[in-house]
Order: sequence, then C-alpha cells, then structure tokens
Amino acid sequence: MTTTTTRPIAGQKPGTSGLRKKTRVFMEPHYLENFVQAVFDAIGGAAGKTFVVGGDGRYHNDTAAQIILRMAAANGAARVIVGQGALLSTPAASHLIRLNQTDGGLIMSASHNPGGLDEDFGIKFNGPNGGPAPEGLTDRIYARTTEITQYHVIDAPDVDLHTIGDSRLGDMTVSVVDPVMDYAALMETLFDFPAIRAMIADGFRISFDAMNAITGPYATAILQNRLGAASGTVVHGTPLPDFGGMHPDPNPTWAHELMDTMNGMGAPDFGAASDGDGDRNMIVGPGIYVSPSDSLAVLAAGAHLAPGYTQGLAGVARSMPTSAAADRVAEKLGMPCYETPTGWKFFGNLMDDGRVTLCGEESFGTGSDHVREKDGLWAVLMWLNIMAVRKMGVADIMADHWQTYGRNYYSRHDYEAIETEVANALVADLRAGLPDLPGQQVRGRTIATADDYTYHDPVDGSVSEHQGIRVIFDDGARFVIRLSGTGTSGATLRLYLEALELDPANFDHDPQQALAGIIAAAEDIAQIRARTGRSGPDVTT
Ligand code: G6P
Ligand code: ZN
Repeated sequence: MTTTTTRPIAGQKPGTSGLRKKTRVFMEPHYLENFVQAVFDAIGGAAGKTFVVGGDGRYHNDTAAQIILRMAAANGAARVIVGQGALLSTPAASHLIRLNQTDGGLIMSASHNPGGLDEDFGIKFNGPNGGPAPEGLTDRIYARTTEITQYHVIDAPDVDLHTIGDSRLGDMTVSVVDPVMDYAALMETLFDFPAIRAMIADGFRISFDAMNAITGPYATAILQNRLGAASGTVVHGTPLPDFGGMHPDPNPTWAHELMDTMNGMGAPDFGAASDGDGDRNMIVGPGIYVSPSDSLAVLAAGAHLAPGYTQGLAGVARSMPTSAAADRVAEKLGMPCYETPTGWKFFGNLMDDGRVTLCGEESFGTGSDHVREKDGLWAVLMWLNIMAVRKMGVADIMADHWQTYGRNYYSRHDYEAIETEVANALVADLRAGLPDLPGQQVRGRTIATADDYTYHDPVDGSVSEHQGIRVIFDDGARFVIRLSGTGTSGATLRLYLEALELDPANFDHDPQQALAGIIAAAEDIAQIRARTGRSGPDVTT
C-alpha cells in the first residue's frame, strides 16, 4: 500500500446528484483520488466493508473504476462487486447494493450529460439503502475534501473486469458480475411479463432509444430477449464512451430521433428513451408526448395492475417543481402525497420509512421502493404492464386520465449556460421582491403566495432551504424558478410552468398555448429573457 500526500482541491462539492465536472478535471492528478478518499473517510473508513462499483460506460469509466478498486483495497475493503466491464446502470447499482446488503456503492456517471474527453464525468456515493447519499453525508464528504492531506492506494496492475467471477486485489475480493441479470430478475418479479409478452405477440410495437448509453444491454435483454419484442426495438443499443456524440437526455429536444419516429407515418405503438445512466425515462405514444409529471400520475393511478404493487401504494412523492397531477390521484385514492425538493436523494427517507411506494420528478424520473434510485426501464415496464392489462394505447390512457382527474398543463423552460452572475443576480432580485408579490395582478391573474421553498424532512427533521422560488396564483396556476444543480458550465435556469384545467372541452390544447398566460406572467415578474438577452428557452419539456 502506498500513502500519497495530497492537498485539498477546491470545488469538490457534490451537487444535486454527486460530483460532476468536465472529464479532463477528473483526469487531473489526485482529483478523483481525493474525492474517493473523502468518501471513505466520511463514512468512517472502508475497512472490512463491501461496496458496489460501476458506471454508465462513459469516457474514463474504466480507468476510474481501476483507481477506485485500488483505493478500496488500500483502505481495507473486504470486497467490491463490479459490473462486468465496470458497467452498471444507476438503478441496477442501487439494486446490487441492496441485494447483497453491502455498505454502499460508488457510481460513475454524469447521468444525462454528454460524455467524452471534452464532456462530463461524475461520481457519487450511494449508501447501504441503495440511495444517493443524503445531504448530511455529502456535506461531510465535501468538508473532508477541504482538509484532506493523504490518500491510500495499492500498487497493483489493473484487475480483469471482463471475466465474470472472483479475483483478489491485495487482500480484497473483486467480484465481477453480469450487470443485467439480477436487475432483469427483479423486473420479472414486479411486472406481469406474460401479459406484456402476449400484447407484444399480438403485434404491439415498441421503439426504445437507448441513446448509445447504458440501457442498451438492459433493454435488449428485457424487451427483446425476455418479452419477445422484435430485434431493432432497441435503437442505439450499444453503450459508447462518447454516446456516439448523442446528448443522452431523454427529452423531446435531445431524443428528437425518437420524437420523429413517434410523430411519423407508421409510428410504433409505444416509444421510450432513457438517459446516460439509465435512471431517466421519456414516454411517447404515436403523436403524443407524455409529460413526466403526467407519467407519474398515470403510474400512481395504475400501479395496482402490476403484480409487485397489487396491495396498492403506501403513498406517492414528487419534487416541488413537478406538477400536482400526482396529488390529484393520491387524493382520489386516499393516500398521502409528499412534496420534496428537486433531487432523488430526498425520497430516500420517505421510502425507507414506508411512507411512499412511488416517487417521481418532472425531470424525467420515476421509480418506486424496489430500489432507491429512479429507474428508466422500470417506468417503461410499468407503462407496458398497465397498457397490457387495460388494453389501451398511450393516447387513450392519457385522455381517460384527464377525464378522471383533470389536466395539469405543464412545461419546463430551460435557459442553459447563462452567465453565473446574471443567473445569481436574477434569483437574488426575485427573492428580495417576494414579500411584495402577493395580491399583485399580473396578466389577469392575482398572485396568492410567493416564497422560496423550504423543505422539512418529516422523517429525520432536517431542513433544506432555498429549494426554488414559487409564485402561485389564486386559480392554482404557478411558476417556479430555480437554478439547476447538475450542470457543469455556467448556470442553467429552469422555469417550471403549470396550470390546472378542469373543463374537458379544453383538454386537447398545446401546453405552450395553454400556459401562455403563465409564461408571460413569469417574464413580467422575473424578466428572464430581458436579463439574459435570450429570445427563448434552449430546452422545452
Ligand atoms: C438528476 C437528479 C434528479 C433531478 C435532476 C435535475 O437527474 O437525480 O433528482 O431532478 O437531476 O436536477 P437539476 O438540479 O439539474 O434541476
Ligand atoms: Zn441519470
């Protein structure tokens, strides 16, 4: 074992989902090592512990995995379970952590951010429950990075991560496992595979865009090999270090190839895409895009149709900027609905405490307590299960849902890579003006409340402040503004827009038109376009 002297490197503060930086930053001397050592130190050391290690296959994934293994061995870890080729989707990693009752895991990914030497890399620690480290722990990890003086690493050749089975690295066992098998087996316990298989055999066609990222092997194994979907169902199915130049973010802007397929002649019955590390999903039907907030509501309403959820749900949770569509389902079904800040980590306590079964976010994330991450393929399979049982297509399911619950028109406008000072000043000014807003008339609506969202975790009592500025009108319409915590260049300002429609005659509008009044009101109040000089958002969901 060698102990290397180091010194703190500025800026190693985990964001919404772990530490994310340009790949070249992670390749700088000591950068990854400092952070990994800080993780081990912050959890009370690695001695005698077992961890899961894997990543989404992006550039630097393999090199980083070898470094983590050598450091785990030097820090006295007993065993590390690694996905073959150092690959694991984020939900599969969460499952392996739980299945093997390990002490946590290190996941290498920058999620939906592009990959490559000049793009993004990331790493995060998930705890023994399989979920992202809560804020208290990420704070401790960060604090440790600011005082670190040394890290431990053994001097050894690279471990063969391509051959399944056990080997030794120093005194540590390295178990290379099939990245897909256990995950696919779990899915088979949750969903009605025979019903989905029968629907597919009946001619139901699917297009799944894996965007050259990690879900390719998972989707091929499950949709094509186990459920009988035709070969070619999974598009861009081979994980590539640079995602083949794709931006693996499943939204209408970046998954435009899938959108074209689904809006074109002869579209399949169902389209879906997932992100770089497999935890996000987008659902599309022929000619109809399902907003993630609506998707959560549809899954909450129909989950009891899947074998893993026949008992019903304990409750649902959504992030604050996510629409209240799920709340309406929860109310009708008589179950609690929790609101949390953006970030999957906030759902962990609620799931561990048995308060909620399903969680979701407007950022294309849905999942349940089967793991402690959001899960892209899980959402796809839940949709397929519901459609197979109800014998309805995507458009019919949406129409029926709105008839029953009303429609929460919803959209998110992203202004990307704006100057950090401009973004910070905009938010600061907005925050300062909040007390004056209630009662004001804007574009024909009256502002009911305006605040900066603070979350009180009902399980551990922790408080998270400054989680997004909300302006709510007296008809329930609202907009929310917050800065993204996952970007790596400049600031991304997110404007979330929502309006409730209860008149069935108005369920068929284009969301941008239905929300035009709120969009204009948000500009009047926050002046995003005026202050950034942008004529409109870079991404609209
Ligand atoms: C990741 C997190 C999500 C979060 C999303 C957007 O996917 O896991 O929980 O909602 O990023 O976060 P941001 O801070 O960029 O809005
Ligand atoms: Zn992701």
